[in-house]
Amino acid sequence: MRFPPGFGWGAATSAYQIEGAAKEDGRGESIWDTFSHTPGRTRNGDTGDVAADHYHRYAQDLDLMRDLGLRSYRFSISWPRVQADGSGRPNQRGLDFYRRLVDGLHERAITPMATLFHWDLPQALQDAGGWENRDTAERFGDYAEAVFHALGDRVPVWLTVNEPKTVVQNGYLWGHHAPGRQDPAAAYLVAHHLQLAHGLAVRALRAAHVEGRIGPALNLHPCYPADDTAEAATATRLYDGYENRLYLDSIFKGAYPEDVLADLGAESRMVRGVRDGNLKIISSPVDLLAVQYYTPIYVTAQGDTVRRWPTSEAEWQQIYPEGMYDILTRVTRDYGPVPITITENGLPCPDTLAADGTVDDSARIDFLRDHFAAAHRAIQDGVPLESYHVWSLPDNFEWAEGYEQRWGLVYVEYPTQRRVLKRSAHWYRDVIRRNGL
Ligand code: FCB
Repeated sequence: MRFPPGFGWGAATSAYQIEGAAKEDGRGESIWDTFSHTPGRTRNGDTGDVAADHYHRYAQDLDLMRDLGLRSYRFSISWPRVQADGSGRPNQRGLDFYRRLVDGLHERAITPMATLFHWDLPQALQDAGGWENRDTAERFGDYAEAVFHALGDRVPVWLTVNEPKTVVQNGYLWGHHAPGRQDPAAAYLVAHHLQLAHGLAVRALRAAHVEGRIGPALNLHPCYPADDTAEAATATRLYDGYENRLYLDSIFKGAYPEDVLADLGAESRMVRGVRDGNLKIISSPVDLLAVQYYTPIYVTAQGDTVRRWPTSEAEWQQIYPEGMYDILTRVTRDYGPVPITITENGLPCPDTLAADGTVDDSARIDFLRDHFAAAHRAIQDGVPLESYHVWSLPDNFEWAEGYEQRWGLVYVEYPTQRRVLKRSAHWYRDVIRRNGL
């Protein structure tokens, strides 16, 4: 099973989850600092203060990437490192870190792919209303512009907002991610402002006259009816609207889906928050679509969800590789042949470091093999998939789950910060070398 020549085998991380160095070199506070330091919010009270200490150990991590043979590395830039309080003159020391990182990637022939926002909103902007405030989207456009000026010559692919839906759902509906709200009315206004932020960043890139390509990073969940009743089909359609089309249609079709708008209602904060010209900004042409796939969703006639497949250590994840094929072929069918990169896909495993120094994560190997095969089949069926990033490179701070869930190809022994390649990393190296399975 060979992949196209030059296929971009990669791995993904995000700033708050790996960097640590929370108070160094002028970094300001983010909402995840606040949230993780609030008692009861994360498992064991874990925080990203140190994380995988990547800020100090990045050179070693770059060597690991080279040893694995990675061709692409998808990371995120911490907004509060670049602008401590979310606006104003950029902090050169913060930018310098990312400059060292991207230079180090180029030296090792690894292509950088940078995400501008992976959830670590500057706390000062949250204090001013966060994503409920339209101004935060404007601030994001300015921040993006500063980053493009500093790094635009070295980063060929940019991603705007990582998983806006997770901010909406986990951050504002269920409250188990920062900023920890349970406010449905606010949630969808936040969705709109995140989409607006995306569009403003796309425009900022074009205005900065740098070469790079840019697109959104969306976690897409294929939605299936739980049974074959007409009611389940109808409920699934609306569910799909909230999970997928809200984000895809606004970017690729310049309109929010009618069924979702009707369900929210004309008087909702979101619908009232959409101003003239906003959708034009949101649908500014992009160069690629980044898809993050973890799980399918099965919807009952009542609009509830049920589980059909075994779950992983993450209770929200059902293991269903076919869903990868379905979502990739579906976006190509419904939104045109836009180049696609998979920016996240992976599995948490109860990894332990054995006495002989190995970490046997065979379940992760099975998971990745089956998902690579599904992606390969999608390519054969015409999906313009150009790269695939496994989540994640090292074990890291898994948000509310703290350090208990291990998602990495590389084991991190946190007390010593020692890195150990898991069996899956050795296996992945061979996949990359063979360019296939
Ligand atoms: C995604 C996030 C990423 C990581 C994985 C497991 O939703 O983008 O940061 O937490 O899930």
